[in-house]
Amino acid sequence: MHRVIFNQKGGVGKTSITCNLAAISASQGLRTLVIDLDVQGNSTHYLIGAVDAEQYPAEAQGVAGLFKQTVGSRSMRKNPDSFVWETPFDNLFLLPSSPYLSEIEKELEARYKIYKLRDALAKLDSEYDRIYIDTPPNFNFYSKSALIAASRVLVPFDCDSFARQSLYELMLNIEELQEDHNPELELEGIVINQFNGQARLPGELVAELQSEGFPVIDSFLSSSVKMRESHHEMRPLIYLAPSHKLTQSYIALHQALEKGVKKCRRS
Ligand SMILES: Nc1ncnc2c1ncn2[C@@H]1O[C@H](COP(=O)(O)OP(=O)(O)OP(=O)(O)O)[C@@H](O)[C@H]1O
Ligand SMILES: [Mg+2]
Repeated sequence: MHRVIFNQKGGVGKTSITCNLAAISASQGLRTLVIDLDVQGNSTHYLIGAVDAEQYPAEAQGVAGLFKQTVGSRSMRKNPDSFVWETPFDNLFLLPSSPYLSEIEKELEARYKIYKLRDALAKLDSEYDRIYIDTPPNFNFYSKSALIAASRVLVPFDCDSFARQSLYELMLNIEELQEDHNPELELEGIVINQFNGQARLPGELVAELQSEGFPVIDSFLSSSVKMRESHHEMRPLIYLAPSHKLTQSYIALHQALEKGVKKCRRS
């Protein structure tokens, strides 16, 4: 199962959701891989900290190395799993991001390498029970590659008016991609992040989405400073604060996704 977490709007919670769901998956004994396709490398930093650039040149790192070899000789290509790194957490693995991703993006696009991630995932499939893909806040070569490679897409929504406005365009982009490249891609739903039940606006925005028929997932994620602490400590919530309210909502979300998502729709 390959799940991509995508929203072209920045700061909605893609990285937090990718890494925390993946960490819960790993803590439950599933061999889980996170793929960091964002040149910002936030998932990479969250799970393994700074990468030693001297030891691992940017062009050989993780996902950049994987893509780069697709423009080279076929006989020299390594197995995609050789670009995967261990993390300090049991059962949790990472295909790290690299600054080199921006440098090679134009070349990969010009050489039609958009299906290469899908080919790589087909090879990684037998090694991992779950694959989670973090994407950049753009509809660019890497996020398109992820949407083509994945079987499911989760869309984080941070209860903000700008995020609300960009949802239509986002849904059109996903539909176009499904139609042109990946009819198997299932929109699992919209994950409500940073929900504050005390404030008026988040409730109103979520009710609007539901009344317009957007597939909102029942398990909401609340807003908590624990998330920032978790990034700072480089420990996903399940390891940092297993009984915290936000961790518990993440566990509930994970469980809902594993069972097959329950969505609120307009009746
Ligand atoms: N549930 C939450 N409660 C409080 N803060 C949160 C929560 N989820 C995410 N954040 C904070 O919101 C900010 C953006 O989160 P995150 O980096 O996960 O978003 P993103 O969509 O990956 O951003 P980008 O588009 O830049 O990659 C971070 O500072 C993070 O700590
Ligand atoms: Mg991010």
